Amino acid sequence: MPSMTVNERPIRFDMDPETPLLWALRDAANLTGTKYGCGNGDCGACMVLVDGEALRSCLITIAEAEGRQITTIEGLSRDRSHPVQQAMVAEQAIQCGFCTPGIVIAAAALIARNADPSDADIKQAIPNLCRCGVYPRLIAAVKRAGRVARRVERISAAPAPGIDARDAAASVPAMRPADEDSR
Ligand code: FES
Ligand code: FES
Repeated sequence: MPSMTVNERPIRFDMDPETPLLWALRDAANLTGTKYGCGNGDCGACMVLVDGEALRSCLITIAEAEGRQITTIEGLSRDRSHPVQQAMVAEQAIQCGFCTPGIVIAAAALIARNADPSDADIKQAIPNLCRCGVYPRLIAAVKRAGRVARRVERISAAPAPGIDARDAAASVPAMRPADEDSR
């Protein structure tokens, strides 16, 4: 039974050791922030940190992840305060959001080793596919995240966690909670 640390908690998966890590995280650990895009290593939507390196979890078996430190998007920060999360929101580098967890993980790994990346560094480190085409804003966001990590800029862009759905929808009539119309 492969054991590993996921978001700082020890986990043992009672599953076939050849199960892709992506399946185990999503279906067994209920960590659905990590996305299934292609299942084939092409899109990067499934990226997680494995001992600090951004890897495609659809290509790693849980046997291969044995004993490793896994960080998913849920574990990157407790309050969405990671510089990449803040900068992605501030630069509006999110459209549908499906690619975003994988991109944030890849960007976090880059910023951890190089907080002042060039455009070329970013393109090389973040090969993730985005069907919405956020690429120009992504470059700006990663550079801004680097400035935050280097402490030459401060931002506080992401909303606080735990917002009540009714409050979140208050200024967006089309997104009113479903039960509101029945009252
Ligand atoms: S789902 Fe893993 S690379 Fe696309
Ligand atoms: S924001 Fe939609 S796929 Fe990237």
